[in-house]
Amino acid sequence: MKLAVPSETRPGERRVALVPDVVKRLVAAGWDVRVQSGAGDHSSFPDEAYAGAGAEVTPTDVATFEGADVVVHVQPLDAREAALVGEGTLVLSFLQPAGSVDALKILAGKRATVFSFDLLPRISRAQSMDALSSQATVSGYRAGLTAAMHLTRFFPMLMTAAGTVPPAKVLVMGVGVAGLQAIATSRRLGAAVRAYDVRAAAKEEAESLGATFVDLGVVAEGTGGYARELSEDEQARQREALAAEVAASDVVITTAAVPGRKAPILITAEMVAGMATGSLVVDMAADSGGNCELTEVGSIVVSGGTTIVGMANPPSDMSTHASFLYARNVANLLALLGKDGSVAPDWEDEIVTGTCVLRDGVPQGESTAGILGTSPGPTPKTGGDGGEPEQEGK
Ligand code: NAI
Repeated sequence: MKLAVPSETRPGERRVALVPDVVKRLVAAGWDVRVQSGAGDHSSFPDEAYAGAGAEVTPTDVATFEGADVVVHVQPLDAREAALVGEGTLVLSFLQPAGSVDALKILAGKRATVFSFDLLPRISRAQSMDALSSQATVSGYRAGLTAAMHLTRFFPMLMTAAGTVPPAKVLVMGVGVAGLQAIATSRRLGAAVRAYDVRAAAKEEAESLGATFVDLGVVAEGTGGYARELSEDEQARQREALAAEVAASDVVITTAAVPGRKAPILITAEMVAGMATGSLVVDMAADSGGNCELTEVGSIVVSGGTTIVGMANPPSDMSTHASFLYARNVANLLALLGKDGSVAPDWEDEIVTGTCVLRDGVPQGESTAGILGTSPGPTPKTGGDGGEPEQEGK
């Protein structure tokens, strides 16, 4: 079976879907791996390393896609790339179906089978394939470092001959996988960290990393371990209670998200105006609309003495290890989909059905069918938003 790794073409994307040591394992398992020349350049994996691992390095995207049975990518294929996919090919990547309608239509026309890491059920058996978690780990770490770099103060308390410096006060909003990593990173750098989330389980997790949990009395548990969207009234109460917390912080790191929706606004322009001069907001949710009203994705905005950093695609900034982890997620999902370089998914397995967007070109689940304007296929959709998530593997 031929496995293709085309270069990423989305602007700003520096990751690559497979790294050489994973290629080596896949080649040993029977895969015939083809990597587009330069695909790993931005994550410090040169062509020679792929060739040394047993891959064929191909000169162009056309040559990489040609005859491939499986295509692996980080970002969703765009329409041009989808047009290069052969009939009946299997495609693995992140994929927000609503943002990839043209490509999905082309892939459906080619009877492709498409899996999206965004839809992987958050169950313990799927943890080794959980690319959302592996990349959120990178993002959270990066958010902590970004905050320390932009703040014109120390993070740790310092007692020096010239005087004592108090620790920075960091507030982390959204204590999922990324938020926990932001807490851990800020704590390692010596900051005094407070944390806030609308899920009750987040309290114990934040406290286990040395943060003080802020209880604002707004609880919004959703399904599958995720938060639900807050009502207008809850949002108003939350903002009111948060204003004092935000004003008292040197740094606010936000990572709050609700699956499939725009990120909730937790910090209004008014709340930013209440922050002290020299304070900082690092918005890790910028790509999905931002948790701060003033966030501009990929930009640094200064408002009334407060700096707001809108992080764009944070895992891409740490592309070597982000790719290293993603490649393992890919290899583990491939191992689930078939044995010894073959592809034979078990269509009774909730990881397979939950993650599948198109099966032989047929949309799986109402939402993809709705996006494509057709009817969903007969495969039962048992995963994706189901299954009891485990509170481990962070
Ligand atoms: P996410 O990226 O969807 O959201 C980040 C955080 O923002 C969440 O903790 C959420 O509760 C919080 N949030 C949403 N709206 C908010 C609001 N208005 N105010 C404050 N906070 C808000 O979350 P992520 O990291 O993908 O984790 C989701 C769940 O899945 C968690 O319960 C996590 O523990 C669980 N999980 C389970 C895994 C497994 O068992 N394999 C693997 C990874 C995560």
